[in-house]
Amino acid sequence: MDVILVGLPGSGKTAVGRRLAHHHGAEFIDLDEVVERHAGQSIPDIFASQGEAGFRSLERAAVADLGPADRDPAVRRVVATGGGAVLDPRNRWRLYRRRLPIWLDARPEVLAQRLRRSPTIRPLVVGRDPISAMRGLADGRRPFYAGAERVNAIVQLPSVLETVDNLVAEAPSRRGTLLLRSDSRLGRVTIGEGILGTALVEELMRLEARRAVVITEPGAWNAVGGEIRESLAARAIPLEIVELPQGEAAKRMAVIEETARTLADLRVARDEPLVAVGGGALGDAAGFLAAVWLRGVPLIHLPTTLVAQIDSSIGGKTGVDLPEGKNLIGAFHQPAAIVIDVAVLRSLPERERRAALGEAVKMAILGDERLFELLESDGDAIVHGEDAVFEDGTVAELVERCAWKKIEVVSADEREADSDAGAGRIRLNLGHTVGHGLEAAAGYSGLRHGEAVAYGLRAACRLGAALGSTPGARADRVEALLSRLGLGVDPLHLALDAILAALDTDKKHAGDGRLRWVLPNEAGVEVRDDVPVDLIEEIVGGVLAGSGAPART
Ligand SMILES: NC(=O)c1ccc[n+]([C@@H]2O[C@H](COP(=O)([O-])OP(=O)(O)OC[C@H]3O[C@@H](n4cnc5c(N)ncnc54)[C@H](O)[C@@H]3O)[C@@H](O)[C@H]2O)c1
Repeated sequence: MDVILVGLPGSGKTAVGRRLAHHHGAEFIDLDEVVERHAGQSIPDIFASQGEAGFRSLERAAVADLGPADRDPAVRRVVATGGGAVLDPRNRWRLYRRRLPIWLDARPEVLAQRLRRSPTIRPLVVGRDPISAMRGLADGRRPFYAGAERVNAIVQLPSVLETVDNLVAEAPSRRGTLLLRSDSRLGRVTIGEGILGTALVEELMRLEARRAVVITEPGAWNAVGGEIRESLAARAIPLEIVELPQGEAAKRMAVIEETARTLADLRVARDEPLVAVGGGALGDAAGFLAAVWLRGVPLIHLPTTLVAQIDSSIGGKTGVDLPEGKNLIGAFHQPAAIVIDVAVLRSLPERERRAALGEAVKMAILGDERLFELLESDGDAIVHGEDAVFEDGTVAELVERCAWKKIEVVSADEREADSDAGAGRIRLNLGHTVGHGLEAAAGYSGLRHGEAVAYGLRAACRLGAALGSTPGARADRVEALLSRLGLGVDPLHLALDAILAALDTDKKHAGDGRLRWVLPNEAGVEVRDDVPVDLIEEIVGGVLAGSGAPART
């Protein structure tokens, strides 16, 4: 087995690592030393000559060089990582999966004291007030360290070693991989693989729930119900299952009323959490119920589709449809917890994975170059659900990058009050103006949400290019990626008038009667409300005609 030590600078990774390795007769690897050896330079010199990005890329290569995890229960290698190695989702996948990751935790103030006495130069701390530098690092990295087993590092070394040894003894019974855990106003978000049942039990216990009241639908429950049942039974937690219809049909007021009456039968109390197990449609309906049942009860989201994992379960928007339109009734209701298990995406139909990538492309355009590259290189394999992308951490990285971006954007502007594209939640509407119009014109059937967004992204690129917001090369790159993913390619037989009428309705709902278009620019997006109607007509008409090739005006 490999033991991996993570933690802030000064937390004792090298000292503990050497002693631990010696104690177990294991090899000790210091990843920073490996990087220095490969580069032929000290870390401060690498930072000076190649910047932090250059160092991170060397570090990523060193992590990959560790090779496959050693499954022997005896400790064979002890690896001390650089403090920031865990920022990279792929590093974390490699370091945490099937190995024993240990987080040497200590208060930043104590570590700042230690660093003052240390002869080692730490580039991210040097030249700054050590306490505020360490607090900043601690806040930014806590969610990523939290995927590892936490050990208090501010005790005598023998006691740290004893705690670690206990964890080593328990390691063979560990199931699943925890990759990230973050506590914020948006609820506690956990991302991992093979953790669905165990993390649900943990959340129910944290909320002191006496049973699990699960709201689900047949498609999701067939895929994940067995694992949930088993984990609850192992802890003798009673389970109540409330089944809603599959797909958008869950988001009808009649279904909400009927389900509320079932909750009344079950005597669901004010402090009892509802557990939403399903995709975006189920999550929107169950979330709405949680918002209004007894004027609001806690909610645990277990998103089972790619759309729900990267988008709909995060941010607190719940919604129900009316014949007059989608999501016309709803409420903001932040969940107490969101448990994202990427393993459940294996059973998702191909069309669902492909459609969801429309939202992922949107997230990449908002400013994540690495996500862009991942979609360009591995998007096809993700669509096809190839085993390799689940095994090598590609799917986990995709989910985490998108989900984390959404957490960042929504945390800064929870109620969409900020119309500034630099900071506001409005950025998430990229591709959605035309996308919503298409969904409405299609009568909310036949077109998946992400598929409609993909056509909307093409429209946004073409509008942006025509108005001088989107550089031509960037518009081409987005359209080429969408074509590669098979999104927004086929002609759509929808009436242009119906789409324009839907845009008009959106405009009326905008409050001040102005339609704000989110358009790609050089490196992110900007908002414009000066898009001429004839240009919109021309470009939406072009998008409807279908496209493999970029067709900018
Ligand atoms: N609240 C928000 O912020 C927000 C954001 C985006 C989308 N949405 C909403 O989300 C909905 C779309 O969500 P969706 O795309 O997840 O659709 P969905 O919930 O209808 O699920 C799609 C299909 O996948 C099946 N399924 C679910 N999990 C599965 C699994 N693990 N394996 C196999 N099959 C599985 C379902 O039974 C269903 O047939 C729309 O109603 C949209 O308005 C909400």
